[in-house]
Amino acid sequence: MTLREEMSSPVEARDARAFPPDDAATKKVFIKTYGCQMNVYDSQRMGDALASEGFAPTETMEEADLVLLNTCHIREKAAEKIYSELGRIRLLKARRESEGKGLNVAVAGCVAQAEGAEIIARASVVDLVIGPQTYHRLPQALRRVAAGERVVDTDYAVEDKFDHLPAAEAQAIRRRGVAAFLTVQEGCDKFCTFCVVPYTRGSEVSRPAEAILAEAHRLAAAGVREVTLLGQNVNAWEGEHQGRRIGLGELLHRLAEVPGLARLRYTTSHPRDMDDALIAAHRDLDILMPYLHLPVQSGSDRILKAMNRRHKAEDYLRLVERIRAARPGIAMSGDFIVGFPGETEADFAATLDLVGAVGYASAFSFKYSPRPGTPAADLGDQVPEAVATERLDRLQALIRAQASAFMESLVGTEMPVLVEKAGRYAHQRIGRSPYLQPVVLSATAGEIGDLVTSRIVRSGPNALIAAGGEPEAAGAAPRPAALRKIA
Ligand code: SAH
Ligand code: SF4
Ligand code: F3S
Repeated sequence: MTLREEMSSPVEARDARAFPPDDAATKKVFIKTYGCQMNVYDSQRMGDALASEGFAPTETMEEADLVLLNTCHIREKAAEKIYSELGRIRLLKARRESEGKGLNVAVAGCVAQAEGAEIIARASVVDLVIGPQTYHRLPQALRRVAAGERVVDTDYAVEDKFDHLPAAEAQAIRRRGVAAFLTVQEGCDKFCTFCVVPYTRGSEVSRPAEAILAEAHRLAAAGVREVTLLGQNVNAWEGEHQGRRIGLGELLHRLAEVPGLARLRYTTSHPRDMDDALIAAHRDLDILMPYLHLPVQSGSDRILKAMNRRHKAEDYLRLVERIRAARPGIAMSGDFIVGFPGETEADFAATLDLVGAVGYASAFSFKYSPRPGTPAADLGDQVPEAVATERLDRLQALIRAQASAFMESLVGTEMPVLVEKAGRYAHQRIGRSPYLQPVVLSATAGEIGDLVTSRIVRSGPNALIAAGGEPEAAGAAPRPAALRKIA
């Protein structure tokens, strides 16, 4: 999945503003989400489970009776952040206790799964450690915490958590906006040698097609227009529909029939699982957005082999060609790791060549971070930090240039934009392009949830500006600083 270094969940933040807690809800929960989109989705589902227990969301940690950190273990920095946050929470808890009030602290997500009881040993402020496979047991775990117990639950539960987590209320779905995530697959059997995910999320499990379709219907009925299907290897999804085995391509066809939905996306895919039916779906389904996140990690066959990616650079390039033949103009995105053990300048040059050959609309790149328990962490020949930093800079400069060239190529074109929220100025709204960029629109262009045709007049590093959405469009004097921020 696409990973943000840190993400305080915007969902919970919005919840608190839009809906002050009702009188019945006496307890408040502050949820902070790190890592990938699946953690965002999981935080929502945990929020739903806690709502049934009488917890109202808050966006201020100081107000909370329960602080829940949903964590990420992918790189050392991501995991270490949790401990600095727990240090701050310890001070808050001490302050609370001096006022005679309590505070419970729960750690969920991939650090919880990877480190279990060690978290409590290192940060005694933590009352509960709960792994991603047991979120449906969160309410009962909290009841044990309330009774004074310290709880660690990092089992791989036999029962399916999704069968036991409460479905979101229509009102909660609406508060989260018109674009929603929907987990269809979890876990990974690929065992790339650098990666913790197979250990933190377990083996690949697909949710049943019927459960996914039911959830999509529920989302659409509550006003959701765009659904992004999530999985660590989302294109490894498989299931049964009307007595037939189907893959993700066919599932997308079924989802395309859900009334109200206007857009579908899926993330993240592994190149080895891009089958013909899925590629054909990009050709046949207009509702499937022309954007694909398809990580390759390196352009060097030697490094790809050491990473256990089980394909060559050339296989990836041919695959991108087939995808582009099916859907001309599709925007490609990817993930890269630089400084994998043993990476030479020639290996890195092969990565730059691959990026040059593909031409990405966006891409994420990271310095290799050795993770405990993964095979690559034990390899000799670790690349010096300074070399990795220098390579990352060069790769990111190339990616930035490609991304801005892609954005520039959209200036002067018309495209459908999904209106998502209010803008910075009263005359603006923010929407989303088919290629996933934010688009600044005129507030008169349409209501939230509308799909409107917009003419792009300018591009900035992070957003496209549509006619009428320019900061100066309302007749205000141009404000270069603010303009730079938005564009
Ligand atoms: N299934 C997803 C994985 C999510 S991890 C996928 O295959 O895309 C997101 C990205 O983090 C990976 O694609 C990889 O580029 C990066 N990553 C994973 N482990 C890493 C590590 N040990 N060091 C640096 N980057 C890593
Ligand atoms: Fe990690 Fe590789 Fe699985 Fe992606 S495919 S989650 S990088 S092991
Ligand atoms: Fe991080 Fe776990 Fe997602 S390690 S990237 S939160 S699957």
